[in-house]
Amino acid sequence: MSDISFPADFLWGGAIAANQAEGAYLEGGKGLTTVDVIPHGKHRMAVKLGLVDKVGIAEDEYYPSHQAIDFYHRYKEDIALLAEMGFKVFRTSIAWSRIYPNGDETTPNQEGIRFYQDLFSECKKYGIEPLVTLCHFDVPLHLVNQYGSWRNRKMIGFFERYARTCFTEFNGLVKYWLTFNEINILLHSPFSGAGLLFKEGENKEQVKYQAAHHELVASASVTRIAHEINPANQVGCMLAGGNFYPYSCKPEDVWAALEKDRENLFFIDVQARGAYPAYAARMFADKQIVVQMEAGDREILTNTVDFVSFSYYASRCASADMNEGNTSAANVVKSLKNPWINASEWGWGIDPLGLRIAINTLYDRYQKPLFLVENGLGARDVVGEDGDIADDYRIDYLREHIKAMKQAIGDGAPLLGYTPWGCIDLVAASTGEMAKRYGFIYVDRDDAGGGTLNRLRKKSFYWYQKVIASNGEQL
Ligand code: BG6
Repeated sequence: MSDISFPADFLWGGAIAANQAEGAYLEGGKGLTTVDVIPHGKHRMAVKLGLVDKVGIAEDEYYPSHQAIDFYHRYKEDIALLAEMGFKVFRTSIAWSRIYPNGDETTPNQEGIRFYQDLFSECKKYGIEPLVTLCHFDVPLHLVNQYGSWRNRKMIGFFERYARTCFTEFNGLVKYWLTFNEINILLHSPFSGAGLLFKEGENKEQVKYQAAHHELVASASVTRIAHEINPANQVGCMLAGGNFYPYSCKPEDVWAALEKDRENLFFIDVQARGAYPAYAARMFADKQIVVQMEAGDREILTNTVDFVSFSYYASRCASADMNEGNTSAANVVKSLKNPWINASEWGWGIDPLGLRIAINTLYDRYQKPLFLVENGLGARDVVGEDGDIADDYRIDYLREHIKAMKQAIGDGAPLLGYTPWGCIDLVAASTGEMAKRYGFIYVDRDDAGGGTLNRLRKKSFYWYQKVIASNGEQL
């Protein structure tokens, strides 16, 4: 172990997303997005899954994204704190609807462009490299209502225009780009993943894979545009990662795990290898899916990504007969509970070795540089009387996962960097809570939208500062 070290230029940092942090949901000319109509509380799941006829803002619901942690107004203070920790990279996303409020305009919103120019310049001021996701779960709502979101091929053109604007306006400020956050989540949470709502009786799988095809073509197309605009641009795909383990060594369980892995890796197979995988034909036939493609799509798909990024929170488990009573749903991907590992309060398995397994699997399969762009423990924090927050459980989780990354580097996997999730507390994507915290920085805000929004350094803040300063030696 001791002779393995992180590369000298390893990118240590942290990650957030516009929709979970910025707030200011109608300021600066921003339009509404899918996330802005996902309420906290009992109706949340039905909306996220696309199981409602229409979406909108109801008087009697609370929408956590509307103010979130007010990063839009406080980003200077927040970036200064990240710089104090020694961040070398900061992952955030651009809210599509700040640049094109409706999504289908032909000219962009200058105020939105200015906001991100200022934000990325602020990062650069401290020598922090921005790592920017173009779409992190927030499709402009007008595109959902008017076009049916990604079920419609027109989305490719809208996304190309948006991405081209970003690559042009932020040229020189941003070099690392991700196209779609956790692209495979579209299968598991279709509205929050891709703005999909379903009609009574339609084949949902057909809709999802048609939408997936449009996203995959759009992703490959903007990868080409990014390289044309600046050959130094590095574009990555982004997988909600974590392998499925077979629940037992029964061959049927092993096969079930392989199929469940393929469901997720299907997307990366296309984005990293440039073509539909061989198993897709049978998978589509079994699900009675016919994906409409246009002449030229296959050629566009050959524009593969420069690196493969992924989130890792937990491993998963599958068997031939998934027993509903024994499942959990980390990252909305349904899994059997694994009796060999512990879980967080929210039931997400804690499995550092699973990270080493995931990294090795991805490198064996793609031979591209990898970037772990989300990882972390969602936990409840208690602020002591003196303002101290002793989040040793978070430090323990992260320490073990950093050790696993180190092992994977020793195994030969080229890892570009590490951006643990929610480096500053933010709204949880699954539940809409603030109580489920990931940060090194505490934000005084509760589940109902109360609190001062003041920021506090947690114990893990000082710990991570040392980790970065020692390039992962002092854990
Ligand atoms: C990933 C998402 O699914 O997991 C993030 O990319 C999300 O947006 C993160 O916040 C953690 O999930 P949660 O539900 O705990 O916020």
